[in-house]
Amino acid sequence: MIDTKIYEIDPKSIEKERLKFAAKTLREGGTVAFPTETVYGLGGNALDEKAVKKIFKAKGRPSDNPLIVHIAKVEDLDDLVKVIPENAKILMEKFWPGPLTIIFERGDKIPDVITGGLDTVAIRMPSHPIANLLIEMAGLPIAAPSANLSGKPSPTKAEHVINDLEGKVNVIISGGSCEVGLESTVVDVTGKPMILRPGGVTKEELEAVLGNIEVDLAIEEGNVNLIPKSPGMKYTHYSPQGEVIIVSGAVEKIVEKIHSLKQENEKRGLNVGIMCTDETKTLYKEGVVLSMGSRENVASIANHLFDVLRMFDEEGVDIIFAESIEKKSLGHAVMNRMIKAAGYHIIKTGR
Ligand code: TXA
Ligand code: MG
Repeated sequence: MIDTKIYEIDPKSIEKERLKFAAKTLREGGTVAFPTETVYGLGGNALDEKAVKKIFKAKGRPSDNPLIVHIAKVEDLDDLVKVIPENAKILMEKFWPGPLTIIFERGDKIPDVITGGLDTVAIRMPSHPIANLLIEMAGLPIAAPSANLSGKPSPTKAEHVINDLEGKVNVIISGGSCEVGLESTVVDVTGKPMILRPGGVTKEELEAVLGNIEVDLAIEEGNVNLIPKSPGMKYTHYSPQGEVIIVSGAVEKIVEKIHSLKQENEKRGLNVGIMCTDETKTLYKEGVVLSMGSRENVASIANHLFDVLRMFDEEGVDIIFAESIEKKSLGHAVMNRMIKAAGYHIIKTGR
């Protein structure tokens, strides 16, 4: 057991003094969980193999799943990558700092533990003021996967991190809830641009600056037999204790189907949870009914998704029926996470 230090820091008025200990911990090879605009990250010195191993151990993460390296300024890139392709420059200019991770050819300084042996490296410059200042104060590139136990929903609030990692990491910075609520978009620009993981920056936003962009086919619904280019995408993920099943189709049909599934499963003695939207919430009369947010505002759904998945655990439900939402703009990333939480279990109703 590690004696985890928890520091509360207000992102709106950061007391730099309070970040000093965390920056020092990073420089000395320790682990620090900190908020970013996407989800909380668990950081360590990316150039220190021992520190990186501590991250894998704390999370229980498979070693073939590479980590994202976080930087505070564009100049920090030079040491970490071989070349900066023209498309990367365009993306960095437009989306950094922010929820976009770019895959580059790996520079010599990057240790094997970071990349799981790949010849590429993932880099991101976060916009969250605490993340940005902490990385700058540490004066190091910081490896940071999401600060959850491997397999659990990513943490969007400090309490999620504390539940998963207290006693396993040196420092947790409690700095409020994460604005985006989903992880960064991962884009490979070493060849023809391709989205390896949908996330906080949408395909439409990327296409506005790069033109047509492909999505790794392996991560699309129904292609479970293809191997994803981003190793992390092959793992089932984001799973609460209860089994998640997605119900898709036209909204009225979804509601109807969930009603009958609820009845059936309650007859079997199961405690049923329903993951719905603001628009449908009142249509479910009783039981553990939690809304992800409004269908009119998909950013609100992205923001609450992981928190709601974790709330079902607190309610002790055995099975969760989740309404699908439209797979456009941020809905693409939302459905990607939901489908993984459900282990690809989808019930299709008519349209
Ligand atoms: O928003 C985020 O990206 C958060 C915050 C903390 O920055 N981090 C995050 O890290 O989501 P993690 O480790 O949970 O997810 C990293 C993803 C994994 O799917 C991993 O396989 C992929 O990025 N990845 C890392 N390096 C890669 C590489 N060289 N090539 C392809 N995929 C890579
Ligand atoms: Mg993760």
